[in-house]
Parts: sequence; structure tokens; C-alpha cells
Amino acid sequence: MLSPEPSTIAPLRRRLGGIAFGGDYNPEQWPEEVWAQDVHLMKEAGVNLVTVGVFSWANVQPRPDVFRFEWFDRVLDLLAANGISADVATMTASPPPWLARAHPEILPVRADGVVLSPGGRQHFNPSSPIYREHAAALVTAVANRYADHPALAMWHIGNEYGCHVAASYDDTSAAAFREWLRARYGDTDALNDAWCTAFWSQRYETFEEILPPRAAPTHPNPAQQLDFARFSDHAMLECYQAELAVLRQITPDIPVTTNFLYLHKPVNVQKWGPHLDLAAVDCYPDPADPRAHLTAGLTYDIMRSARGGQPWFLMEQAPAAVNWRTINRPKAAGQMRLWSWQAVAHGADGVLCFQWRQSRGGAEKFHSGMVPHFGEQGRTFADVRQLGAELAQVPGLAGTRIQHRAALVLDWENWWALELDSHPSAAVEQLGSLLHHYAPLTDAGIGVDVVHPDADLSQYRLLVVPNLYLLRPETAAHLDAWVRAGGHLVVSFFSGIVDDCDRVHLGGYLGPLAETLGVVVEEFAPLETDGSDASRVDIAFLDGHQGTGSIWSEQVHLRGATEVARFASGELAGRPAVTRHTRGAGTAWYLATRPDEVTMRRLIDSALAGAQVEPVLPGVPEGVQATVREGGGERLLILLNHNAEPRTVALPVPMRVEVGSQRGAVAEAVSLAPLDVAVLRQIGE
Ligand code: GLA
Repeated sequence: MLSPEPSTIAPLRRRLGGIAFGGDYNPEQWPEEVWAQDVHLMKEAGVNLVTVGVFSWANVQPRPDVFRFEWFDRVLDLLAANGISADVATMTASPPPWLARAHPEILPVRADGVVLSPGGRQHFNPSSPIYREHAAALVTAVANRYADHPALAMWHIGNEYGCHVAASYDDTSAAAFREWLRARYGDTDALNDAWCTAFWSQRYETFEEILPPRAAPTHPNPAQQLDFARFSDHAMLECYQAELAVLRQITPDIPVTTNFLYLHKPVNVQKWGPHLDLAAVDCYPDPADPRAHLTAGLTYDIMRSARGGQPWFLMEQAPAAVNWRTINRPKAAGQMRLWSWQAVAHGADGVLCFQWRQSRGGAEKFHSGMVPHFGEQGRTFADVRQLGAELAQVPGLAGTRIQHRAALVLDWENWWALELDSHPSAAVEQLGSLLHHYAPLTDAGIGVDVVHPDADLSQYRLLVVPNLYLLRPETAAHLDAWVRAGGHLVVSFFSGIVDDCDRVHLGGYLGPLAETLGVVVEEFAPLETDGSDASRVDIAFLDGHQGTGSIWSEQVHLRGATEVARFASGELAGRPAVTRHTRGAGTAWYLATRPDEVTMRRLIDSALAGAQVEPVLPGVPEGVQATVREGGGERLLILLNHNAEPRTVALPVPMRVEVGSQRGAVAEAVSLAPLDVAVLRQIGE
């Protein structure tokens, strides 16, 4: 089922005339003479949207009682005069020096008590009422001034919430945390029970005794840590919502977004999604990582799924190199184009870069820009120009959607809980585990959504559930009902371990999911990660395949499931390693270790076959990604060659090439150069 988009989005799409293309534009870093050249080059590159004002607070409000908007007026006027739309930032991401000087209490404090000073950016404590007050006053001034400005197309609240400061452990935050806990638990009896404070003499008599999980002699209470992660996310969401309320009142028809940082644990994108008109993400895959497109793909699937499949924007990506890794490799020739189209293939309706003009000074002067230090003559701007032209080349693309029959399950709160300290193995972490399950699906040509386990699952035939440690009984019941109705479920180890408050489900691990899976787990036996023999365990499949497992092994008891593979080395030799259970009209698989890549691919292939989930284009060469975007009578096939060698893709029916070297032709096969892209349109039945 496709979720309906907010009423603000269709007008934005009409205004932009297709896919959004542009970048962060920071004109305050340049003399005004440069601005005219900027818009000239933007037009040359096909830019239709720029994000302005993200770090402009100190420049528009140099003193508490002085607003200087005139320069910003001129920027917006110039954009409007040149037909370029503005994604206007609320400017609250980096408080001006005067605010921190007048109110040092807005500064965030780390768990170890260190106060973070101004001089970088994002030096605010999300729970600070003074920060929120000043932010609201600024947003009110900005929104009132530009409500009717012809350049204003959308609002961009804050910038990458939680990027540098995701939590503050100061006294103001402590008080807010206590209020949040009071609302959640009502009284200290309920909190003591939820946090298991009978352990280590942690019982609280009053809420006033409770603190954030500050640096402590040893592991702070895990339930306290989990609740503090929830609270800190909530505090940032409150900052966002306070600004949103101002914007909704002044400009109810202008769409609102914020740019999430990719795969960023502290911000629960699944919870924030409904509060945005349009999801947006900043994604910086490492060009040095040969599987970087998987990380990016996972990011994009999370974004699309955060708003029920609606189109979203890639709000920032690097045109070439970033400046914040130890070694910063530029994107290879063709990689920016390929990765931009990859975002579109995952449902993006916008592809923007950080930033338009590479900074001359400051901490990001070696971060690439669409117009680099070298100027517009070099390869970066040529790539930008080509991309802008191509993105505008496919009428009807913006607004189309993607439908998948398979999904990966992610519960953001599980991410927080799974990675708490004092666990059987620190090697079990959320992203690695998501990618281990995502890669074989991608390699099999299967696109997925990334859904919360409580979501409506009716459109899916296959659900893959990596390490769902935190599992509420209601969630387990929801998954069970979906399996009994015919769903195919694949669940990995260390799932169904604790409830919402990190309390263990007793009577065998897997707890409320044990019946669905037809197995129960008695004891964990995590493996080493040092490459030694103790890092691997052999697994033997009943069909003869031999594989290995890493990270984990455990003692599984069959309770109705059939053994598919068993451990073939170590103390668990002879015990189940992979099982399958028929449950109602469905099937539930269980993996008691992390199988090697080949074995994982075989398992996923079996599960896909059982669930009858097929690639959109069967027989596509390995490393070539194929996606279909549909809607409004259009059916568009996007082909991406992630390989360093050329590939040819045969088409089931002749299609018109809209983007690619065979542009204009009706093709029965498409030749893709290394890192090449093709977009094809279906022509009739
Ligand atoms: C983030 C920020 C930008 C910039 C880029 C650099 O995405 O939002 O302001 O710092 O990183 O990669």
C-alpha cells in the first residue's frame, strides 16, 4: 500500500519541474561579486534548488537585538530572479558567539563532565530552554520575513540533528530527563521495576535522585542508558517540533524537512518520519570502500521507508572528496553520477550536494564543492553539469514510487539496546548485522524496504530480521500472525532476548518468538573475532553444503522446527545451526550463527524461492542493480553498473533509452560501461 504524500509536496514537484538538483549554498563566505557568477553557473549546471542559510545565524543576528537580513534578501532576490528555488534553512544549527557568551548554560556537557565550547558548530544542549527560546525567535523572524518571498520553496529545519552533539549530561538535561521519566513511569516503584534497580543497590526513592548515565565507575544501569537514548532523541525532536510549529503557523503551505545524517544511531528516523513533509538525508559513502554502494543503498531504503515509500531527497553528498576521514579519496570518474542515480533508483526525488562553492577557509576548505577551488573548468564541474542535464532528461520520473515484496526489519530502539555494554559479545552490532543481511538480498537483485516490526507488513512476502534483541511481546505476536498468514520470516541469533526495559524474557531465549520459530535457545557461545580458529565454527547443511559461521554460536533446542544445518566443529558440534519451521501458512527460519557470505546467499536464495520473491529483472549480471519506479502511467527501469568492468543487460521487452550512451534508441539490450547508468522507459505493452 502506498502512503499518501502531504498536500505540500505536489506543488513543490510542480514548481521544481522534476527531480531537484543543487546543493548547499553559503554565499556569506564570498564577496557579493561572486554571487552573480554563482547563479550564472547554477543555471549552466541545471540547478533548480539550493539550500541557503544553514550556518547564517551569526550573520543575520550579529547581536541579540539586531537583525541584518538585507544581505540575505539580496541572495534570495537573486535566486528568484534566476528561477532558482530556495530550501531556506531556519539557521539554528550553530548558535552565534554572543549567545554562548551571554548564556554559557546552553553549552552541551559530555558524560564525563567536559563542557563543549563554541568555536566549532552545534554547541547547544537540545534541552536548553534558552537555546530553544532564541531559536524560536530567530525562526519567527526568518519565517515572517520570507513567507511570501518568491524564492521560498521549502524549509530546512536545523542541520543534521545530533551529528556532533546527540545528548547532553548537564543539570538542565538531568531535570528534563526526570520529567520525561515521570511521564513514562508515573512513580518510582514502576521505574525501579523497569530498571531492575534492586541490582547493585540502585533503588530510587524519589525522581530527584535520578541522573543521566554520567561517567560511572563501571557499566551504568542498561535500562537507564536505554531510556536516556530515548529521552535524548526526544529532546532533539522537541527542538525540531518547536521550529516546525512556528513554520506551520506562518507558512502552512510550504513543505518542511530536516536533513538526517546517514545511519546515525542517536536519531530515531522511524519516529521522526511522520513529523516531516519529506524525508531528506546526507550520505557520504567512502569512495575507498568497494562495497560503499551497499551502505548507501541501505541508507536510502531506510529513508524511503521512514515515510511509507514516499519520494525523499538526498540533501547532501560530496561532489568528490570529503575532508573528515583520515584519508579522503575523491570519487572516481563516474562515481558521483552513478551514486546520484543510485539515490534516484532507491526513490529519491532530489539529488543535492554539499556544497555549491568549495570554501576558501574554515574547517571544510578541503571538502569538495560543485565549483571547486580549481574553478569551473575542471572535471568536477563538468560532472556536475552532466548530472544536472541528465536528471532533467526523464519526464515523469519525479513522484514515481517503488514497491518491494521483501523487507529488512529494523527497530531503531533495538539498535540502542543491542549495542549496550555488558553483553555476551561486543561484536554483535546493528549496522554490520543489517549489512550482512542486506548484501545477499542486493546481490540476488532484490530491493527491500527497511521496516519497523510493528508496521503494516501485508505487502511483504519475505521479512529478514537481523538480531532483534529487544522484542516486545506485542511485536512478536504481530510477526507471528504475519507468518501464520503465509509470510516467510528469517531471524538471526540474539533476537527475542529482552523486553522494552531491557529485562530478559525467561524460559529460553527467543522468548515470545520461540513458538513462531519452533526453537528455543539455552545458552550463548559467542566466537572470537581475532581470526584464530576460535573465530569460526563449521556448519554442515543436510543437503551437503559446508559453510562456516562467525561472531556467534549457541545451544539451540528444536521445538517443532526442522534442522537445516548443524554445527560441525567445536563444543556445539551436532547441534542445530540453521532451522526452518512451518507455521500456519508460513515459514520461519532461524540462524544460530552468522553464516559466511556464500552460505548466507544460499540461505537467502532458498528463502526468496520459498516466498516467491523475484528480482524486477531476472538474469542481470552480478554487480548491476536494476530498479523499477512506477506511477502516473510511467514505468521506468534504472540500471546501475557498480562494477569496474563493462556489462550488458538483456531487456525482456524493447525499451526506450532516456539516459545512457544509447539515448534515444529503442533497445533490446543495454551496454553499460564501468560505473555506468541507464534509464529506460517502458513503451506500451
Ligand atoms: C554534513 C553537514 C554539512 C557539511 C558536510 C561535510 O553533512 O551537514 O554542513 O559539514 O557534512 O561532509
